[in-house]
Amino acid sequence: MSERKKSQALYGRAVKLMTGGVNSPVRAFKAVGGTPIYIDHGEGAYLYDVDGNRYLDFCCSWGPLILGHAHPDIVAAINTTASRGTSFGTVHENEVLLAEKIIELCPHIERIRFVSSGTEAVMSAVRLARGFTGRDKIIKFSGCYHGHSDYLLASAGSGLATFGIPSSAGVPNDFAKHTLVAPLDNTEAVERLFDEYGMDIAAVVIEPVPANNGLLLQSKAYLSFLREITKAKGTLLIFDEVISGFRVAPGGATEYYDITPDMCTYGKVVGGGLPVGAFGASEAIMRRLAPDGPVYQAGTLSGNPLALACGLATLDNLQKTDGWSTLQTRTEAFVKQLKAKTSGLPIDLVSIGSIFWISLQKTAPSRAEDIVSDGAKRYAGIFSKALEAGMYLAPSAYEVGFVSTAHAETDLTDAADKLAEILGQSIR
Ligand SMILES: Cc1ncc(COP(=O)(O)O)c(C=O)c1O
Repeated sequence: MSERKKSQALYGRAVKLMTGGVNSPVRAFKAVGGTPIYIDHGEGAYLYDVDGNRYLDFCCSWGPLILGHAHPDIVAAINTTASRGTSFGTVHENEVLLAEKIIELCPHIERIRFVSSGTEAVMSAVRLARGFTGRDKIIKFSGCYHGHSDYLLASAGSGLATFGIPSSAGVPNDFAKHTLVAPLDNTEAVERLFDEYGMDIAAVVIEPVPANNGLLLQSKAYLSFLREITKAKGTLLIFDEVISGFRVAPGGATEYYDITPDMCTYGKVVGGGLPVGAFGASEAIMRRLAPDGPVYQAGTLSGNPLALACGLATLDNLQKTDGWSTLQTRTEAFVKQLKAKTSGLPIDLVSIGSIFWISLQKTAPSRAEDIVSDGAKRYAGIFSKALEAGMYLAPSAYEVGFVSTAHAETDLTDAADKLAEILGQSIR
């Protein structure tokens, strides 16, 4: 057992100061047991805790760190920008540069707005969709997470699933009454909702790569169906690309599946590890947003210069190094090795781009409803053993793993060996 005395002491102080000792619930290790490890620093593909232990990081700050920890380009971007000021509360060049870069990579976006989190991005995109269509209702899918704004918390994936909470307390029914929830990968359910609520539906919002309740990969045919039905009904299709954007392909899931939604939301990678979110659409839709239109949206630190410099440095680096294909090749090889070494076990491994998930059932599901209920219990043992073996997986069975460009082939081969052994011991 590694020594984690300093972490435990810090957590002992933290629980007396912050609810659950944390500032985001899944970090509390409630679902996996034990106490959180306190990080001293990150370097490349590794996290180092305050007790001097090293972990290969498959969480990557829940997705943003596509270049790994403390990448020299990111550190340089922060230093250069910070020395000239950390926030101006008005316009600056990095906004123009990152907007140009996003539109170059995602040509279906004609106008963009930067915010400070994925939650804000989706909340604002839905408001704009409502303002644009003049309709109130939205369809979301069970297991998809779109941030913690009130009406999007219904059946919303990992954080809630980890704690067995179907929807959050504190959300009045009145606030959620316009949110219609459908199972993923089910055309009839969506057709029924359109039959019933037809012209009241402003938007269908989906993670095109649902990665918040395991990795519930959808078929291209299903996403195309959503594209067609929304077009036919005058409803906007919103791809929440907070996880998939700039990760599964340069142009995100939109490029990967070659399906063009009406609006996209971004976060995580687009901020390179600093707080950034963004939403974008055609000029016609975005024209409805303040100051040009009547849909209000604003933010004191929106488009923060430091954060946008990091987003820009991240996307520049990936473009210059062909990072996306390196990530894809390494992740595929890692998953293939792990699959081969665990072939007799009743588990499945799924991946897309540099995202992977160890599904604790024989065939990985495409709907949240089909995830086995005892997975979370079995995952706790796997998580703890991985930690002991020097690997930091996300502390929840419902979270995916991320690979960064700092994960070398040797790191991944070694991890595949260790994980296969742990899975062999934990699954019968
Ligand atoms: C698909 C998706 N949308 C929105 C969000 C919310 O982003 P944030 O945590 O930055 O508010 C997340 C966060 O995990 C996400 O995965």
